[in-house]
Amino acid sequence: MHTVTLTPPARGNPGTDIQIGSGALAYVSKLVKGHDRVVILFDESIEEIALRLVIGDSLRIPVKSGDASKSLAEVDRIVSVMLQNGCTRKTLLICVGGGMMTDLGGFVASVFMRGISCVLVPTTLLGMVDAAIGGKTAVNVGSKKNMIGTITHPQSVLIDTDLLTSLPDSQLSEGLSEIIKIAAIVDHPFFEWLEDVMPQILKRHPIVLEECVLRAVTAKVNIVQADEHDRDERLLLNFGHTVGHAVEALSAYKLSHGNCVSIGVVAEMKLANFKDATRVEKLLAAAGLPLEIPKTMKPDDLWTVMLSDKKNEKGVVKIAVPKRLGEGSVQILSKETFLTLFS
Ligand code: GLY
Repeated sequence: MHTVTLTPPARGNPGTDIQIGSGALAYVSKLVKGHDRVVILFDESIEEIALRLVIGDSLRIPVKSGDASKSLAEVDRIVSVMLQNGCTRKTLLICVGGGMMTDLGGFVASVFMRGISCVLVPTTLLGMVDAAIGGKTAVNVGSKKNMIGTITHPQSVLIDTDLLTSLPDSQLSEGLSEIIKIAAIVDHPFFEWLEDVMPQILKRHPIVLEECVLRAVTAKVNIVQADEHDRDERLLLNFGHTVGHAVEALSAYKLSHGNCVSIGVVAEMKLANFKDATRVEKLLAAAGLPLEIPKTMKPDDLWTVMLSDKKNEKGVVKIAVPKRLGEGSVQILSKETFLTLFS
């Protein structure tokens, strides 16, 4: 088992203890002391995993699978169930599931009676290396994604890499998309290691998978510790997301986030004339990820969505791209340059 500690720079934000490894789920028994009640909030599709959390008396609240559950209506429902069951400021909320669940549950914990302790148990690779790390919580408003949220760090994150052995291939690829992205933009040795071990990752070699998750989490922790609030280094995590989010929105969210990030990474590397683009593309393709913007999507429609991204200001579109492998920068993207992608 590996322990990584995330110590956020902002005052009043206690750090997060992140446990990574085979059997990390068992660590939950150490976390329940001192709480009057334990609530397990879980994605209904992975109830079997939630049942593996052995805790004496807990309140179990299932949540419907799918991004539609990331809503204020669902927050209201969960809070009402917690109140009906006597939860207080001393209650511990444990959230079990993928990014939807950790975003939603993290938000509930951050606002319930102005904030209660929270443990995240991500069950997908994407959740383990991205959504559960760094304190971002969110719900959607209508079709607008992540419009309400907080940056509130969980007390602990339990990453049980045993869960990866039964993860569907498509979900493994989704997580690899964020992993390749972070390695390419901030961690050159990690990127080279991924090039070497990708076949073992795809065969789900347990020790290689554990090291992969550990290195990805450590890279993200270092970024969040340097810039908790998306002002500087954390913007580098947006690599692939400016174009990727637009592709995701225009697909009406039928294409997965990980697939869209992969498409976005390839597009943004081209826009920035990144000289090692072929190496990154090769690794994304080896991980089973798509590389091309669907032909049905119109450049003008993509640009309109990109302009409305909440990370942009005053109508300026920005992309985060590597200058060289492992070293990123944020650049302004003009519409004229964007359109060269399609010529
Ligand atoms: N998922 C991007 C971030 O945590 O900043």
